[in-house]
Order: sequence, then C-alpha cells, then structure tokens
Amino acid sequence: MIVVTGATGQLGFELRRILNNAVSGHSRGDSKPAIFLDSKALNLRNPEQIKNVLADLRPTVLINAAAYTQVDKAESEPEIAQEVNVNAPAHMARLAHDLGFRFIHISTDYVFDGRAREPYTEDSPISPQNIYGQTKATGERAVLEALPSALIVRTSWVYSSHGHNFVKTVLRLAKERKYLRVVFDQVGSLTYAHDLAQTLLRARDLSGIYHFSNEGVSSWYDVACAVKRLKNLSLEIEPILTRDYPTPAKRPLYSVLDKSKLKSALNLKIPHWMESLEKCLKEIS
Ligand SMILES: NC(=O)c1ccc[n+]([C@@H]2O[C@H](COP(=O)([O-])OP(=O)(O)OC[C@H]3O[C@@H](n4cnc5c(N)ncnc54)[C@H](OP(=O)(O)O)[C@@H]3O)[C@@H](O)[C@H]2O)c1
Repeated sequence: MIVVTGATGQLGFELRRILNNAVSGHSRGDSKPAIFLDSKALNLRNPEQIKNVLADLRPTVLINAAAYTQVDKAESEPEIAQEVNVNAPAHMARLAHDLGFRFIHISTDYVFDGRAREPYTEDSPISPQNIYGQTKATGERAVLEALPSALIVRTSWVYSSHGHNFVKTVLRLAKERKYLRVVFDQVGSLTYAHDLAQTLLRARDLSGIYHFSNEGVSSWYDVACAVKRLKNLSLEIEPILTRDYPTPAKRPLYSVLDKSKLKSALNLKIPHWMESLEKCLKEIS
C-alpha cells in the first residue's frame, strides 16, 4: 500500500488523482492500494503522531508530498521550516528503515545557488541561498543518511490546477488588473505536478537523488506570456529585473535541472513545459 503525505498540496492532489483512477480501473481485490494523509491526519511537526500513524498503517511505499513550501515566509519561520523539511523527513526515513518500507522524498532546485550557466546535475555542488533551500538541502542529507535506499527527486517551479502557484496567480491577477510586472532574469523549468506524480510512481524502485521537471527552459515572464496567450487574457505584461522586485528570500537566477539520469533510468519521455501548461490550463476556467 502506498501512503502519501501532504494530500492537500499540488503533488498530493495529482498523486491522488492518478492512484484513484488506477483503482477505479482495477478489479475489487485492489480496493485500498493508497492512503492520502492531510496535515491533520499526519502533522509533520508531531513526531509521535508520525511514528504511530506509520507503525499502524505499515505502508510498502511512503511518498512524502508534504513540505513547508512558503519560500518567503520561511525567512521568518526557520524553526517551523526545519521541523517540517528536515526533522520530519529524517524521522520518516528512520521509520522506513526500521519498519521496512520504501521512502520517496521531494526536494528542490533551490538547493542550488543559481550561478551556473548550464543545467545542474545531481552531482553539482549545492549552495542554497535562502532558508527554504537550506532546510530542503539539509533534509536531503538527513534522509539519505538514515536510509541510503531512499529516492529523492529534486524538482522546480511546480504548478497544477489545484493549489497555489504562479500560473494560477497570473490568472487571478488578470481578473483584477490590466497590467503585470514579471521578472525575466530568473530562468528555470516549470513542472506540471501531474507529470511529476506520474514519474514518481514509475521511479518508485530507484534509490538516490534524481532531477525532474518538464522539458525546456523559460523565465517567469515567458510563463506569464504563455498563460496570457493560451488563455487569451487582456493583460499587459512588462518584463522586469529581479532587483526591481525585492522579496524576503533570495531566489537563484538560474535553476535549470539536468534530467538525463532519470530519463535514462526510466527510458522517460518528458513533455515540453508548454504542452503540459496547455493541458493544465484546460482544467482551469
Ligand atoms: N511548489 C514548488 O514550486 C516546488 C518547487 C520545487 C520543489 N517543490 C517540492 O515539491 C514537493 C511538493 O510541493 P507542492 O508544490 O505540492 O507543495 P504545496 O502545494 O505547497 O503543498 C504542501 C503540502 O504540505 C502540507 N504541509 C505543510 N506543513 C505540514 C505539516 N506540518 N504537516 C503535514 N503536512 C504539511 C500542506 O498541508 P496544509 O495545506 O494542510 O498545510 C500541503 O498539503 C515539496 O517537497 C516541495 O518542497 C515544490
């Protein structure tokens, strides 16, 4: 049985959608192949609850789709980010070791400093520039120390039709105003949470660190323009520099992930970011 934490998040939502569809297409014998836990059913700040719930459920695979993901807020709440992004995954990895289940954990492009000019591989040196990235980097290390057979997939710029993300923010702002300023000097790769979820399920027997995003690269400005074009929005979008849009947390200017390792391990063909964006936007009215 697969257990998924963070059931209400973007990735949790897409995992549920895929796994529930798989069940409805199956025979009755497979009636409970997955359980989805929200932050009430499994609060990652509560180590005792984590232990009791997992000892009780006895998963075969645990996918940790929960995380402290508020990048700017983490600057003023480092202790909470540490609890959720470091202590809890390390605890889950130790339980996976002791109880004998597989553990899949998700990390981020923000473990890198953004000074590279070519895609980051799994072996590129990490040097996070903000608290969120630091906690995710420490979380990766702690998980692999406790459970070398864990799978950690680093991803970037995640969005879906569900939850909070940049794509939905553009759509919301387009209803409220005529004009938008968006940074064009941060370059990365969008990841449709649905594509990530499908890939994680295919990758579940791998161990170590792998990178995944959609194909292609873009700036946030390019993403906003693509949303405008695909949704036919009447919105003027001005490209601006990161330094003209100060935020509490510093972001890497370049965070493209090299996905060769995962692509060759799974013989994987990944959709281009625009193809997946178009698919996702069809679900949003
Ligand atoms: N979003 C991105 O752009 C991005 C980029 C790179 C990597 N990632 C990584 O990808 C993974 C999935 O991200 P996502 O975008 O799906 O995240 P998300 O939509 O922000 O969802 C986060 C989930 O974590 C849960 N959570 C937060 N604190 C919790 C706690 N104390 N106990 C239990 N659950 C808690 C939230 O539940 P509540 O809503 O109930 O708090 C929510 O379900 C994360 O590991 C993230 O670091 C994300």
